Amino acid sequence: MCGIVAYIGKEQAYPIIIEGLRRLEYRGYDSAGIALMNGELNTYKKKGKVQDLEDFAEGKNIKGTVGIGHTRWATHGKPDDINAHPHVSGNGDIVLVHNGIIENYSQLKEALIELGHEFESATDTEVLVHLIEQYQAKENLPIEKAVQKALTKAVGAYAIVVFDRKSPDRIVGARKSSPLVLGLGKEEFFLASDATPIIKFTNKVIYLNDEEIVTVKRNGDYEVVTIDNEIQNPEVQEIDLKIEELEKGGYDHFMLKEIYQQPKTIKESMRGRINAEEGWVTVGGMQDHMTRLTGADRMIFAACGTSWHAALIGEYLFEDLARIPVEVEYASELRYRNPVIRENDVIVALSQSGETADTLAALEMAKKKGALLYGIVNNVGSSIARLTDCGSYIHAGPEIGVASTKAFTSQLVVLALMAMNLGKERGTLSNSYYRQLLYAMEQIPDKVSQILEQEEKIKYIAGEIKNAQNALYLGRGYNFPVALEGALKLKEISYIHAEGYPAAEMKHGPIALIDMYMPVIVIATNQSAYEKVVSNIQEVKARKGIVIAIVLEGDKEIKKIADFTIEIPETVEPLSPLLSVIPMQLLSYHIALMRGCNVDQPRNLAKSVTVE
Ligand code: M6R
Repeated sequence: MCGIVAYIGKEQAYPIIIEGLRRLEYRGYDSAGIALMNGELNTYKKKGKVQDLEDFAEGKNIKGTVGIGHTRWATHGKPDDINAHPHVSGNGDIVLVHNGIIENYSQLKEALIELGHEFESATDTEVLVHLIEQYQAKENLPIEKAVQKALTKAVGAYAIVVFDRKSPDRIVGARKSSPLVLGLGKEEFFLASDATPIIKFTNKVIYLNDEEIVTVKRNGDYEVVTIDNEIQNPEVQEIDLKIEELEKGGYDHFMLKEIYQQPKTIKESMRGRINAEEGWVTVGGMQDHMTRLTGADRMIFAACGTSWHAALIGEYLFEDLARIPVEVEYASELRYRNPVIRENDVIVALSQSGETADTLAALEMAKKKGALLYGIVNNVGSSIARLTDCGSYIHAGPEIGVASTKAFTSQLVVLALMAMNLGKERGTLSNSYYRQLLYAMEQIPDKVSQILEQEEKIKYIAGEIKNAQNALYLGRGYNFPVALEGALKLKEISYIHAEGYPAAEMKHGPIALIDMYMPVIVIATNQSAYEKVVSNIQEVKARKGIVIAIVLEGDKEIKKIADFTIEIPETVEPLSPLLSVIPMQLLSYHIALMRGCNVDQPRNLAKSVTVE
């Protein structure tokens, strides 16, 4: 949450920072701001999107070869011009942008007010800039030392970038629990919340670790020290990210592009990990820890949001195919409820961004208890990828639409491959079923393409239900978590209230809601419980609900009773969520679009939730 971009070099900073902020807008879009130094320090801040900032800055002095920028997701203080970052110290010399939350801000603020500091905003962030100013003035410190001192007093999470008008040839950045990446260009440096604003200029980056402070200088020098002043020798990494991956590529929205990328991204997630012809699955990240994984007493899957839904399907997969007991936890709950975690447990964290604060915190807690940490992550080099003992990247490529789509299906691929690999190792899968799963897996990308061909039909159905105020999603077995995911997709981008339920639970409460205005989206593809789902549909129809059924190709019975059906190809049941979720994604997309919602940047949300 919140995106940071900073630049120091020979080029004009403004266009680089603005373009970078656009790339990071997925992290928050409540307000945006920029500070530029060119003899004088100019700061521009505006409520709204990066475009609003650009409009505001038009015609003003935007010159400068050093600058810092920010796009905000509001935590403390409403989204307005004053609470927008950067924040400036009382003496007007120091500017700062921040991502995270300073938990002890009110104590610090009180102490600073007593010392004569005056505050303008309602943010937690502003205390940091005053605190740095206080140390600098009191002890006559260079900016990097003042930052270091101030951070020893700050409790909470932060990625900050700081600039001092008195030292115009350097920028200071620091992180704790919020990401910050340093880009090393030719006689220029970049600091950003992720690598996307940097990649156009350089692929050489350093991912800062917690409690590290970096000072970059215009002369090309940089230094990384810990908050305790230990000099670090950070690893420079070369990232493999193409600029086209960050563009819409002809699609109207990132979400639509990402939905359509799925045949390819699913293949990418399988690449080098499966060969049906030769009859093997090997998930690289597991191999060095196979004894511990196959011998685990149980696994705990921790995640949030869509990743949590993927984890639920993971539970079905691991228990069904590998016979390993799994518990699925909301990371936020796991962290705070004093759970029993033993050394023989394996904690599997799922996260697209690899930066979700609750998931990170849960992992840190489990690490202290000695459990093995396994990460299933999309974002290469992210905090979760680095904290875990082992893991597998899902290789879905950058996901920019706030509503997760391709990352979900790629998470499912990795979970399914892991379950097959473990099932084979543990001898819980017969050879013939194992082979059947392998072949079925390799056919998934083509089957996803087939479903995507039905977009027009799905769009038509979207038009029929777009004015609903509520919606119910039902599924059984492997497809129950898909019902939850379908409901989340609709809620978050169209603002229609939606609930996902195991189909059989409907009669225990939600059925009371059903009337002629209630669309009920039923996943009716389970061969094992087909008749039961048919009964559920009858129950909805008896109460005049509008049934949209996801059925298998050639289905006749449900077609007769449902208002609308969407056919999907058959596959083995453990892999069916990879197909049944696709119509859900398209349905939500079109409903949101028809309701005039901002599909890629839904209200109040951010892609990367780096605050608890
Ligand atoms: O990056 P993560 O996978 O850890 O993010 C978890 C959730 O914040 C995320 O899935 C969120 O629920 C999405 N907006 C869902 O579309």
